[in-house]
Amino acid sequence: MNPVKFYLLTDTHYFEESLGAEGKAFEDYMQKEQYFMKESSAIVKSVFNRVAEDTETDIVIIPGDLSKNGELESHKSFIKELYKLRESGKKIFVITAGHDYGDAFAFKNDQWIDVEGTDFNALTDMYKDFGHGDALAFDEPTHSYMAQITENVRMLAICCDSENQPKGAMDERLMAWAKEQLDKAKADNCSVFAICHYPIIPPVPVFDLIGDTKVKEWRKVASFLADNGVELVLTGHMHIQSINEYYSENGNRLIDVCTACLVGSPAKYRKITVDENSVLNVETIDVGDFGGVPDGVDAQEYFDNQFRNSIVTRVTRALDGGKGIVKHLKKFGKKFVLTGKVGTLGRILFIRLDKSLKNMKIKDLIGEVGLAIFMGDMPYVEGTPIHNALNKVLKRFSFILKKVEPKLQKCDVKIDLKDMLLNTVGNNKGYSDNNAEFKLK
Ligand SMILES: [Fe+2]
Ligand SMILES: [Fe+2]
Repeated sequence: MNPVKFYLLTDTHYFEESLGAEGKAFEDYMQKEQYFMKESSAIVKSVFNRVAEDTETDIVIIPGDLSKNGELESHKSFIKELYKLRESGKKIFVITAGHDYGDAFAFKNDQWIDVEGTDFNALTDMYKDFGHGDALAFDEPTHSYMAQITENVRMLAICCDSENQPKGAMDERLMAWAKEQLDKAKADNCSVFAICHYPIIPPVPVFDLIGDTKVKEWRKVASFLADNGVELVLTGHMHIQSINEYYSENGNRLIDVCTACLVGSPAKYRKITVDENSVLNVETIDVGDFGGVPDGVDAQEYFDNQFRNSIVTRVTRALDGGKGIVKHLKKFGKKFVLTGKVGTLGRILFIRLDKSLKNMKIKDLIGEVGLAIFMGDMPYVEGTPIHNALNKVLKRFSFILKKVEPKLQKCDVKIDLKDMLLNTVGNNKGYSDNNAEFKLK
């Protein structure tokens, strides 16, 4: 791969605050939202200012979910910020995604209100100066494009979150278009890396079983890219820090660097370098203080608390509702999650737990493990109390797992749920999800 250097930040979810982000309905909505809405514009401005100051890196790439939910006014304000960043000498490349078009909402007077959304087709013109306006090729139905990044490096921007195809899919037609562009790049002696809003490789093993967490038919898409000379893809969408490798049947590798949401925990962005020796270096940078963190509060803690609370709220709200006995069971479950201790759960399941876990509240455990997964470099590896506890729970229920596994299998790759779950809470890949180096071809 030829040398190249750029900033990668994604899922900016920019919201124009004057549309309305206040009142009871807003506060209730934020209970389950992982990322900040009201503060998003301040966060984006703060990070753009820091990126602008770095005179050694002049390329910035943003693979989708630019606005909160497609509000036209959010796009207009965000685009103003992009032009400001461009004035500092940066070349900026974006793609849009599912949160960039369609119906939109805001909050005023304690209520949800409708605000003007954005038409998918209008996005092309709005973002023309940030990628496809001077692209080598542009795919009209999806807004995918091929751009010349440096003299001998090109970027294949795959837009798989358009109105004109199933969400998260790279269909045969789009693949044929991409193949044509990749063949041309090869003929012109240019290296190519790709961006795509959806992860191509599931960011953590268990996401292989959950739709919409990666592109549809991901093994096929990953093999297509790897076998056509793309060794690096940069993705977002899942708001998670993860790096994964996949080898096609022909032995070609694809590395997927999936980056977190900029405006919510884990609140990271990346600086990516490929040097003259084709060594890929991925460096992770904290969003940190953006000027809106309350006095005395650590910036990372401010982001992370929102994340922990949102996960617990999602779990407990899933336990709302129901009828008759189900309603009572759910109510009991909700109370147990909010006030119960991990030690009590251990006794119910006849599992001996490490002392450090016994007095921990269940809701705190959910928050910590959830956060650790999205932060990358998941620490609960073999030998740690949480890994041991999960291992024992999975052993206890192994008879159920064995019955479920064949039903979950969608292709000829065998599913081992225990393995998948343990490797989701503990990183066993041999490299970091945050700062890593790979020798490329
Ligand atoms: Fe997003
Ligand atoms: Fe997304």
